Formats: sequence, C-alpha cells, structure tokens
Amino acid sequence: MRNRMIAGNWKMNKTFSEAVVLAEGLAKELAGGTGDVDVVVAPPTVDLKGVAEVIEKEEAPFALSAQNVYWEEAGAYTGETAPNMLEAIGATYCIIGHSERRDYFGETDEDINKKAKALMAHGIVPISCCGESLEIREAGTHVEFVVDQIKKDTAGLEIADPAKYVIAYEPIWAIGTGKTATADDAQEVCGAIRKTLVEIFGEETAAGIRVLYGGSANPSNIAGFLEKEDVDGALVGGASLKADGFADMVRSAMA
Ligand code: PGA
Repeated sequence: MRNRMIAGNWKMNKTFSEAVVLAEGLAKELAGGTGDVDVVVAPPTVDLKGVAEVIEKEEAPFALSAQNVYWEEAGAYTGETAPNMLEAIGATYCIIGHSERRDYFGETDEDINKKAKALMAHGIVPISCCGESLEIREAGTHVEFVVDQIKKDTAGLEIADPAKYVIAYEPIWAIGTGKTATADDAQEVCGAIRKTLVEIFGEETAAGIRVLYGGSANPSNIAGFLEKEDVDGALVGGASLKADGFADMVRSAMA
C-alpha cells in the first residue's frame, strides 16, 4: 500500500550554512531510521547542494526536494532551474504548484502540469500542491475547486509507478496562519481527491498515490490527520524548520 510521507518545505528560509546545520541536526535526530515513512526536505535552491552533501556524508534517511522547477530543458530563461539541474545535484522530489507560487508568481494549473511532465521525464517525483482560498471555503465550493485543480494538474500524465507522484492538499487559509483545518476537513477533500484519481487513473494507481495534508501541521496535531483514511502524511512549512520538532512528526507517522 502507501508508505506515509512527511515532507518539510523550508520555503525562503535558511542561508547555505544554516541549511547545512538544520540538515545535520535532522540527520542526527533520525539516525535510527524512519521505518516505512518516506521523509523529504525541500530547502531553497541555493542550499540544495549543501543539503545533498549532508545526506550523503551522514547517510541520512531523508530525500532531497526542490521547491520549484521550470519545464524547459535549457536556454534563455533567466533565474530558472531546469529538471536535469535538479537531477544532477541529487534532488529526487520537487514541490510544484504551491499556493504561494500560484498567488505571488502567477503560476497556473497549465504551468504546473508542464512542470510535472518535465520532472517525471527526469525521474523526479512531483509533490503537486492544491487547495482553496478562504473565500472559496466559505462559499462551500472547495471540493469542486480542488477536484478541478487535480484534473488540470494531472492532465495527460502517465503514472507508471504511483509512488512517484505525490499530491499535497493545502487549504490556503490554513498555511502559516496557525489555523489548521480539522482532520475531518482534510479527509473530506483528500477523499474527494482520491475519488478523482480513481476516475482518472483507475483504482490500482489511485490507491498508490500519496495525498498529504499541509497547513499549520505540527507535532501536536499531526497524529489526528494521519488517522484519516486518505491522508498519507504531511507537507510541513514552519514546523519543519526545527530538527527536533520535525523529527517528532516523523516519529508520529512511524507509530
Ligand atoms: P505551514 O506551511 O506548515 O507553515 O502552514 C505549509 C506549506 O505551505 O507547505
């Protein structure tokens, strides 16, 4: 079935040396292994190489993720990073479609779909984010909204190995606000995502795709989310910036 996943999105935090210290701290915390839980950290682009080196040196039981990618292979795209560049430094995951990128940088579902295809062509696992704003939640149309995002974000994808495509449901009103969705709120949408995946990819593939919850997840509330049938882990922002707390979340997922 599905291994649980705990992924840390460091966002635009940590200089190179700070990122190395955090990765070393996490390697120490998790030195005993993470059981069946897949652990992923997503540092800023300029810190990826430093964290990759810590992972290699410490034989750390976590994988490296980027926070963004461009879909072209190379060329005149100032400021962007190509999938093969991520591959070359050992990033095996990449977050795409985070609401901050959609809101502040104008990313569309079509862009996110192209990014997923480009990553998968290089064997990099997308962690594809979706989620509704407070306005949509209050209007009661959040399930339809997220289902529509999923359909657009996965259009034409060929998922040979369902462990290699991950979805993160992150209600925007719960990100960085300290306001978490309830575990039932998360299950309602994650369940609808699973149903949509069944329609698109069939029962077997849908059963293997991890759907994470994200939005003010922390060591005290993680267990409640993980009890839910269609919640397979968490994408953690603020609480991933401390090695001990993040490791506690991993241990909760191992329990
Ligand atoms: P948060 O962020 O845990 O700080 O709310 C989650 C995310 O945006 O991935």
